[in-house]
Amino acid sequence: MSEIQLKEEAKKAALHAYAPYSKFKVGCALLTKSGNIYTGCNVENASYGLTICAERNAIAQAINAEGQIEIETLVVYTPTPSPTPPCGACRQVIHEFGNPEVFSFCNSKTSNKHKMNDLLPHAFNLKKD
Ligand code: THU
Repeated sequence: MSEIQLKEEAKKAALHAYAPYSKFKVGCALLTKSGNIYTGCNVENASYGLTICAERNAIAQAINAEGQIEIETLVVYTPTPSPTPPCGACRQVIHEFGNPEVFSFCNSKTSNKHKMNDLLPHAFNLKKD
């Protein structure tokens, strides 16, 4: 599965974003270890705090379809001049489902790539004894 295809899917997903408050339309595409792609856009709410980010929406789609997932690659598109990696809340949620490569791209040619564990060192883990 090519990074180019995931980028196309992420940008397409952003077209469906519901972002009447911020006007900031984000799209995400992820590839699961089982070889399927899922996409998501951000869904805002009048109460602001209930907004769902594109990344968490894509993860919910994947879980809904497959039950258990491991994320291999996650790509996020933001309508910005420079690439913007996922927000802190999304980092913790992505971490729950593996240590994927996370690509961020935008409206310029620059993009970046990080391993999830580098984006969120010392992530919260629920370890019970
Ligand atoms: N947003 C995302 O979809 N993903 C992120 O990682 C950061 C922010 C959305 C939330 C909100 O709808 C808009 O971008 C502005 O913050």
